[in-house]
Amino acid sequence: MTAKIVTVTNQKGGCGKTTVSMQLAGGLAKHGRVLVVDADAQATATRWAASASDDQPFPATVTGLAAAGAKLHREVRKYLTDYDFILIDCPPSVESPVPQSALLVSDLALIPIIPAPADLWAASGTRVLIEQAGALNNGLIARMVPNMVPRTSLGDEVLGELSGYGIPLTQAQLRQRTAYREAQVYGTTVHTMGARARDSIEEVDLLLEEILGILSGVAR
Ligand SMILES: Nc1ncnc2c1ncn2[C@@H]1O[C@H](COP(=O)(O)OP(=O)(O)OP(=O)(O)O)[C@@H](O)[C@H]1O
Ligand SMILES: [Mg+2]
Repeated sequence: MTAKIVTVTNQKGGCGKTTVSMQLAGGLAKHGRVLVVDADAQATATRWAASASDDQPFPATVTGLAAAGAKLHREVRKYLTDYDFILIDCPPSVESPVPQSALLVSDLALIPIIPAPADLWAASGTRVLIEQAGALNNGLIARMVPNMVPRTSLGDEVLGELSGYGIPLTQAQLRQRTAYREAQVYGTTVHTMGARARDSIEEVDLLLEEILGILSGVAR
């Protein structure tokens, strides 16, 4: 079996790319061997995994490949037979060649998006990126993942606008919750945090289910 590849990308900084990558990696680890490719020179995913305690290591392997730049896809191909799932955590930069390269070998692009006006305005750049990548990689599927969703009608309004955007939204949404920040601090995922992270675990599991459903339809 060769790995299914999921790239998590958005040119907007701080929208939750690393959070989505790492939480999904934790969930996917129950379904197979998982590699997180840290394609961001900020190395947030690498530091995250390194913050794990010795008795509870991060459940997936994290490897730093930001330096590969436009050749990232070639590097990622080397891991195809060793893993069942590869998640590529992209940098936020508009100029970086990394997302384009990652999308060349991806089955699925996930675009975390905060339902707020500035994030919506920035989304058009990412849509262009996905369109360009789709022209080179015909099978590429893309989904926007609403993240840090507030409990206000403003969030709903922006999500409503996004639904006509050309890239479908996942049904699952991640709300704004402290558990996600804590998981990063302790180098873990919400799944290991017990009852206090119950709501986060539930929504990550829904997202995971949706993504497994999409990936199961991908022929390889
Ligand atoms: N659903 C959420 N609820 C609360 N905090 C969140 C949520 N998602 C992400 N965060 C926090 O927001 C900050 C930015 O998230 P993250 O690092 O995942 O974004 P990013 O898109 O990877 O950022 P960058 O563009 O710098 O790589 C982090 O402190 C993270 O813990
Ligand atoms: Mg990041």
